[in-house]
Amino acid sequence: MKWPLLSALVLAAQQLGAFSYNVPQGSPGFYHGNSSAAVTFDAHSVFLDNKRLFVFGGEFHPWRAPSGKQFWRDVFEKMKAAGFNTVSVYFHWGISTAKQGTLDFNFYRSHTDVYEIAKDLGILVIVRAGPYVNAETNAGGFPGWLTNVPALARTNQTGYTNAWMPYITSVAKFVEPFQYPNGPVIAIQSENEFAPTSSTGPGRSEYMQLVENTYRANGLTKIPITHNDPRISGRFVSGLGAVDLYTWDEYPNGFDCSNPTVWDQVDTTLIAKHKKIDPDVMWASAEFQGGSFDPWGGSGYDACYQLLNDQFANVFYKNNYAAQTAYQSLYMTYGGTNWGNLAEPTVYTSYDYGAPIREDRTLTGKYSEIKLQAYFLHASTDFVMSTITSSDTSLSDKGQVFTTALSSPNGAGFYVIRQNDNAITSRTNFQLKVNTTAGVVTVPQFGGTNSLEGRESKIFVTNYTFGSNKLTYSTAEVMTWTSIDNTDVIVLYALSGHTIEAIIPTTTANVTLSGSTSITAKASKGSVIITGTPSGVTTLSFGSTKIIVFDKATALTWWNPRLTGAGKTPYDVAPDVPSVLIGGPYLVRNATQVGSGLALTGDLNVTTTLDVIASTTIKSITWNGKSLKLSRSAFGSLRATLPFGVKTPAVPNLKDATWLCEDSLPEIKDGFDDSSWVTANKTSTLRPLQPTGGKFVLYADEYGFHYGNTIARGHFTGNATGVKLNVQGGLNFGYSAWLNNKFLGSNQGTNQHAAGGGADQTTDTWNFTAADVKPGDNVVTVVVDTTGLNEDQEVDDLFKTPRGVRGYQLLGGSDFSVWKVQGNLGGEDGPDTTRGPLNEGGLFFERQGAHLPGFPATNWSSSATDSTCSPTVGLTAAGIKAYRTTFNLNFPVNSDIPIALNFTRTPASSYRTIIYINGWQFGRFSSKDGPQTLFPLPEGILNHQGSNELLVSIWSLDAHGAKIADIELVNTANIDSSQPLIGTVPSPGFTELRP
Ligand SMILES: *[C@@H]1O[C@H](CO)[C@@H](O)[C@H](O)[C@H]1NC(C)=O
Ligand SMILES: *[C@@H]1O[C@H](CO)[C@@H](O)[C@H](O)[C@H]1NC(C)=O
Repeated sequence: MKWPLLSALVLAAQQLGAFSYNVPQGSPGFYHGNSSAAVTFDAHSVFLDNKRLFVFGGEFHPWRAPSGKQFWRDVFEKMKAAGFNTVSVYFHWGISTAKQGTLDFNFYRSHTDVYEIAKDLGILVIVRAGPYVNAETNAGGFPGWLTNVPALARTNQTGYTNAWMPYITSVAKFVEPFQYPNGPVIAIQSENEFAPTSSTGPGRSEYMQLVENTYRANGLTKIPITHNDPRISGRFVSGLGAVDLYTWDEYPNGFDCSNPTVWDQVDTTLIAKHKKIDPDVMWASAEFQGGSFDPWGGSGYDACYQLLNDQFANVFYKNNYAAQTAYQSLYMTYGGTNWGNLAEPTVYTSYDYGAPIREDRTLTGKYSEIKLQAYFLHASTDFVMSTITSSDTSLSDKGQVFTTALSSPNGAGFYVIRQNDNAITSRTNFQLKVNTTAGVVTVPQFGGTNSLEGRESKIFVTNYTFGSNKLTYSTAEVMTWTSIDNTDVIVLYALSGHTIEAIIPTTTANVTLSGSTSITAKASKGSVIITGTPSGVTTLSFGSTKIIVFDKATALTWWNPRLTGAGKTPYDVAPDVPSVLIGGPYLVRNATQVGSGLALTGDLNVTTTLDVIASTTIKSITWNGKSLKLSRSAFGSLRATLPFGVKTPAVPNLKDATWLCEDSLPEIKDGFDDSSWVTANKTSTLRPLQPTGGKFVLYADEYGFHYGNTIARGHFTGNATGVKLNVQGGLNFGYSAWLNNKFLGSNQGTNQHAAGGGADQTTDTWNFTAADVKPGDNVVTVVVDTTGLNEDQEVDDLFKTPRGVRGYQLLGGSDFSVWKVQGNLGGEDGPDTTRGPLNEGGLFFERQGAHLPGFPATNWSSSATDSTCSPTVGLTAAGIKAYRTTFNLNFPVNSDIPIALNFTRTPASSYRTIIYINGWQFGRFSSKDGPQTLFPLPEGILNHQGSNELLVSIWSLDAHGAKIADIELVNTANIDSSQPLIGTVPSPGFTELRP
């Protein structure tokens, strides 16, 4: 899209001034019942359609999953199945614009596809489109070309405003028709993480206000505008730039995955912060720690997952609920991949994030823990209205048991309990005082003790309504409840070995117990008293009440889908929407009742016993369309066996594959013609960081090369004794230099784990011998592996930090006469508008198009005739080589078999590798830093039913060469799935892109 009228747009938005939703002057927020807007809120929660809603969100980045719609749908379905009612989405400006004046929202850049899928599935969306997003992505989401705009980014300076205005205007136009209730979008965030240090200063608030004005002026009038305030410091609650709904982010366990058992304490000041910052507006977390990113040289995502595991989710998320947070989004819930140069310098290709859903879309134990919490919050409509009555250790007989007690206006009580020190890893037994309709009682009343494991949190409830029933109290946690055939069914759980106690008033004395007898019930004085230690499943039925008690391990395997079409809106997760309880499967995506039939869809990872608790009107059940033979279990469920139908797949063996290979550094050969390269003829730059030597500015970005590897060639004639080079490529970068075809050396700086935080540049002097310098033209060739453009957290234009040769000096008398620079083919006019502006870098094989499907590698060597032509043999000297192979997959339609490329790391030699699959760059590996050796190749980019073209490059930074010790394709899971195969993304090949 072209934007000729930039200044007119800017002017229009500036003149419109501050917008609101008809909230009376002086109102601190945007209140329920007080506006024409569709999404409202008060001090407790959001309202949709006059119903309170706990916004239970998870962060997902469609651009980190370029396989597109079916892939996104799979992730959204998995989120919805676990009780997430909202997806929070950062959009990335940079991927949508290769060049100033262009905008492209096709394919994985689409807004409309995200909103349509969410609408179809009934999951709400929070839009976070920047312009700046941070997100551990290249330039924090800024386009590469913005590095050349001489205006301070993230302020109201005109050059910057002109740059983002068309983008944000487009975003508003995409969102406008999808605002609730016409679509799923319930909020839009302005900017991101303006921090205490970055948000003050000239033009910051003005800029924030201008972004908000632009959204309002372009029709976003039904939804609140939010800000994501890092470390909860009250920015933009009032004054210029103030938002409708203040939201915050917190990462309380930090990002040090190398000490995965070391926890910080929970934040006990959340409640006080809310009171101080904005007590009249609900407490909302735009980002709460769902996992952790991992830096180059880091510990890997398994360690991050361990640091931020299901126990972390249990303790820290419940602490948020205790602080009356009623809007929480977990960052990340699905992380995805920093494919195609999406990473900023400190992170590597995988953005798995140790998230609840792994990069290969498989589900974790944390996912299941979150499911129990989300179900509870949706089932407990009193919870968001509750206020804190006490928050200390006073209710327990044990000093280390910390309880936040909340009570709702209609008398329900919630006791969020944990040990008060996260260093405690052992069990504590305790008694607790709770308010009941019969006054304060100490539980348990009938013997035994309550228990908390180390790093466990529990929520006890009192006077808890489910349907037309009430729990007087329960020391087992509530998973969910639903009404089936006029019976209120509530599901309780506790860890096996923990004693529970629950009391329910009833007029019936007859209790039918089935299933495990580790739980017992007795009727006494108008109540049923339930006690015991859960083991498997126990059901207790009396009158119009059914109590199901699970041990926690069992609870984690159960699902509670709302019946399709049963809610008032597709987004309705209220407990009065008819639902069913389903036990066993790895994933239950959907449940639909048609007459007496129940149709279930979902995924299995093994042969599974299915248990269904549903209406007695259900006479038949199908699983993924197949009829099931039903029986009754001991505890009364409808039971069937779900056979696991996917055989372990045959994955091609790359060791036996034929590899084609070619040198990818012709630039050092005599007579290499660089006349078509860009001449680096600038002698000054408007960037904050100036050259450190030499007549010409050699920064790659100045000449339109923003992504991936770049090459500079300096020509000279005459005598020279050496060259001094200052090369800057971002933390974890690397470079190699040659004089003519003689290797001078390499440097890779130090990574961020080094003292002082590492170095993103090095200065080296490379000496020549007299024999190296020829009469006539000599060329110094510098190949730079750039690790991305920096982020811009502090509003200091850090993202404009030079990349490539920052400064140079030819030693010994002469100077360079001309410098040529090269990067991705075409620079800002690169040909591949499908995969987008970040995908390709500037190595020879990339410029040639050898990574593209259909590349005719006819003159390349072959391992069939040359056994050295394989990445496991590699190079015997410094240099760059590309290896290509093809393989076929033929996976069954009902399968979800994620594939990854696995390397065996050989840190002894220094090399860097780029992986391309079917033209998409899906991996960058550095033997020095690691840690990633397993590179998921996502379905959709990978063709699961046909042929695939793989390219792997090896750049040896060592004079003695390098190889990849081993390289293989592996399947990281084997799932029998209801979802169709993810169709291969239609993307152009060699013929289209290198005509
Ligand atoms: C930006 O905001 C400052 C106030 O901080 C103001 O003085 C300046 O005129 C504004 N610039 C533009 C271009 O609007
Ligand atoms: C019981 O409720 C009263 C009134 O809300 C409150 O002051 C007290 O702290 C509560 N006690 C317990 C044990 O929850």
